[in-house]
This record gives sequence, C-alpha cells and structure tokens, in this order.
Amino acid sequence: MKKISLFIISLLVFAFISACGTANNESEGNTGADSGDQNVLKMATSADYPPFEYIDTAKGSEIIGFDIDLIHALAEKTGYEVKVQDMDFNSLIPALQAKQIDLVLAGMTPTPERAENVDFTDIYYTANHMIVSLKDKEVKSIEDLEGKTVGVQLGSIQQEKATEISEKVTIKIENRNKISELVQELKSGRIDAAIIEDTVANGYFEKDEQLAGFTLDSSEEAGSAIAFQKESKYTEEFDAALKEMKENGELDKLIVKWFGDQQ
Ligand code: ARG
Repeated sequence: MKKISLFIISLLVFAFISACGTANNESEGNTGADSGDQNVLKMATSADYPPFEYIDTAKGSEIIGFDIDLIHALAEKTGYEVKVQDMDFNSLIPALQAKQIDLVLAGMTPTPERAENVDFTDIYYTANHMIVSLKDKEVKSIEDLEGKTVGVQLGSIQQEKATEISEKVTIKIENRNKISELVQELKSGRIDAAIIEDTVANGYFEKDEQLAGFTLDSSEEAGSAIAFQKESKYTEEFDAALKEMKENGELDKLIVKWFGDQQ
C-alpha cells in the first residue's frame, strides 16, 4: 500500500514539474518588440538629421523627413503600421539587438561590421562625406586639417572616417551625440571641422552663411538602408516593397521632395 501511494505521489510530482517546464518554455518564446500587435512595428531613428529625420519645432513635435515618408509608404505596401520613436544614433543598433524595436531608418549605412549584428535591406539613397568648417577658417583639403580638432557623430561611419584621416594627418577627434551639437561646437570654435554627409550639410549651408564645406572622394559613398533584427522575417518583405518603389518611380519622387532636383 505504502509503495503504491509513494509511486502515485512521485508520478504527481513528475507531472507537476513537467507542466512547469512547458509553461516556462512558452513564456520564453515571446520576444521583445514582436510581442503585442503583430501588425504594429516599432521603428527607432535619430531625429537630428534633416532632411532624413528631424523635428521642425515651428510646425510641431512630430518627427518628419525622407525616412519617415519612405517607411510609411513601405508599410502601406506590406500591410504594417509603423510607430516611430527617437533615440541617440549610437543606441539604435543595441536597441535592435535587445529586441526593443523592430527596425531602424536613420540614414544608416549598411557596413559589414553592423551587418554582423543586424540585417539590412538594399540601399535606398546614397550620399558622400563632407568636411564642414566655418567660412572664415575654411578647411579646403585633408592636409588643412593638420593639428585641428575634428567633430563626428558618435557611432557613425564618419567617426571611422575621422580615424582613417588621423592616419594621414594629426587631428584630435571629438564625438557628439547629435549633428546639431557638432554645428554648435563649430560655431563656438571648440572644434575646427566636422565630418557630415553632404545632403545633411547642404541643409545647414542654406540656413547658415557662416558654414562652408567640401566633399570627399565619391568612391567612399555612404548609402542608407533599413536595419532589422538579425534573421528578421520583415527584411525580405520590405526589400520587395522597396524594389517596387525603385522601379515605379515612387522612390525618386520622395528623393525630389526631400533632397531637391539635383539628384
Ligand atoms: N550614414 C552615417 C552612418 O550610418 C550617418 C548616419 C547618421 N544618422 C542620423 N540619423 N544621425 O553612420
């Protein structure tokens, strides 16, 4: 009798433990940003980058720009809704890796190093690096940078570009979180030059007569692509929609709207 009840008890204990095991496995299957409504995707950007993404305080507090129009057009084609949030540029890839967000559009260049941690679509726009300085202390060549302080956005490919330049001429590199801070530092003289993409720099030249710049060799282009979590199922869908927009002229229309006709 004793043996039988012991047997039953151990059976019950066993059943209980395995039930707990299954329950645990199920909750582990739920991943960060993808839980909740499957049709709503969380996008992050670094809204310091007109005309790609920025807040026009005169018009409101919403993030607007080329990347925002592009993602809404792509989302319409793929049947998703996209919610946009703002972050420092340097936090975007870690947020994707931690599955806090589903995608990033931030004029982000698909470098091989980044592609180890996130998946990229095809490139949707290409720009060049520019060395920006004050007109009255104008820097006209890489050699002019000798002994100068050069500012770059933290975590950007311009930061790598600065390191590359520092192998040719002696410069001091300063990092800032936002492009607007770089422009501020230029004007106050805390840095002598900044490396900024031409499309973004051109926007600053239009508003600010004190600034000047020159483009670096175009063999070193900086393209932009959409980043997703590694192995994300969305990459392929968005790539297909992007291809459609390239072929039917919709992408060109957006480029003209935000970057003007010069493309
Ligand atoms: N294309 C450069 C990069 O990927 C700079 C992008 C900066 N984007 C921004 N929203 N601030 O590193």
